[in-house]
Amino acid sequence: MVCVVCVLLLGVLRCVLGTYPIWWSLAVGPQFSSLASQPLLCSSIPGLVPKQLRFCRNYVEIMPSVAQGVKVGIQECQHQFRGRRWNCTTINHTLAIFGPVLDRATRESAFVHAIAAAGVAFAVTRACAEGSVAVCGCDSRRKGPPGDGWKWGGCSEDLDFGNMVSREFADARENRPDARSAMNRHNNEAGRIAIADHMFLKCKCHGLSGSCEVKTCWWSQPDFRTIGDYMKDKYDSASEMIVEKHRESRGWVETLRPKYAFFKPPSEADLVYYETSPNFCEPNGETGSFGTRERVCNVTSHGIDGCELLCCGRGHNTRAESRREKCHCVFHWCCYVSCQECTRTYDLHTCK
Ligand SMILES: *[C@@H]1O[C@H](CO)[C@@H](O)[C@H](O)[C@H]1NC(C)=O
Ligand SMILES: *[C@@H]1O[C@H](CO)[C@@H](O)[C@H](O)[C@H]1NC(C)=O
Ligand SMILES: *[C@@H]1O[C@H](CO)[C@@H](O)[C@H](O)[C@H]1NC(C)=O
Repeated sequence: MVCVVCVLLLGVLRCVLGTYPIWWSLAVGPQFSSLASQPLLCSSIPGLVPKQLRFCRNYVEIMPSVAQGVKVGIQECQHQFRGRRWNCTTINHTLAIFGPVLDRATRESAFVHAIAAAGVAFAVTRACAEGSVAVCGCDSRRKGPPGDGWKWGGCSEDLDFGNMVSREFADARENRPDARSAMNRHNNEAGRIAIADHMFLKCKCHGLSGSCEVKTCWWSQPDFRTIGDYMKDKYDSASEMIVEKHRESRGWVETLRPKYAFFKPPSEADLVYYETSPNFCEPNGETGSFGTRERVCNVTSHGIDGCELLCCGRGHNTRAESRREKCHCVFHWCCYVSCQECTRTYDLHTCK
């Protein structure tokens, strides 16, 4: 099955590759809202390859967590990129939710794939530990000897199961012998490794009136924000690769090799890409750039969120905006706070 999805973006009709992960559309708009109210029909999820369809049917109760995971990943992407030229915008009314941006093998594509794969592993693992899915639960193997002053208790999160789902489902379509598939596989795995590397012992005290007579601990996943911050660093230090073609018994196979021999080669935890990003300054339906006109910029920052860089040197407009805020708050004994409402005006700077 080859499906092609076309997106009308900024007046340009652009059809994205048949390999686009259009099942991510499960995580946005009405498709996502309906997951809570209606039983999921695997055959109605757009763009599943046969392996994904089989997986969906076998593990249908996990699918809402898979969708939740993609959503968590997208939200984190939008947080991490909020002040940048490309800010991880999704388009609701299309199946190719990021538009043509993901067609190129750029750093942005690397980040989105990694954070989505991590999101799926994370959300499934969390759902298992919360007991909301029957096929999985807590990890009972991860118990060593008790530590100094604490014993094992509670539910250790079973990342192996979440990772299995992410690998089987999110990577299911990445089995082509081409460079892009190799890149996606690598970056998806980097996203999952980020969680594994941040698992930590979470502890709780039990005892009379808050004393810590008994302390129980279990393995927990980090906050997803920790994963987002970490992956953003990986985005900044992503490794540029070049594509090599090899003749193998199964035909031509493309692999990736670091472009610069004098940099440390990427580890499994690093992001890789092999095409340069557009500058995202001007709207362009071909590349999926929305441009930065009307974007709010920070006039005092010299970073990418500053007006100079965000507006690509076009300059910015300034207008006064006002906002109602709480002010003159007084603490009354005991115990409430009363406030007045004030109108505060401030300057809003937007790119020309
Ligand atoms: C997309 O959908 C979300 C919620 O589903 C909504 O908050 C947002 O306004 C929509 N965006 C557009 C551009 O329609
Ligand atoms: C992200 O960029 C789009 C397109 O330029 C813009 O409409 C949107 O407001 C931006 N979002 C944020 C949070 O700045
Ligand atoms: C603008 O940039 C300055 C300097 O980097 C920073 O201190 C400030 O918090 C930023 N303001 C906003 C609203 O992000």
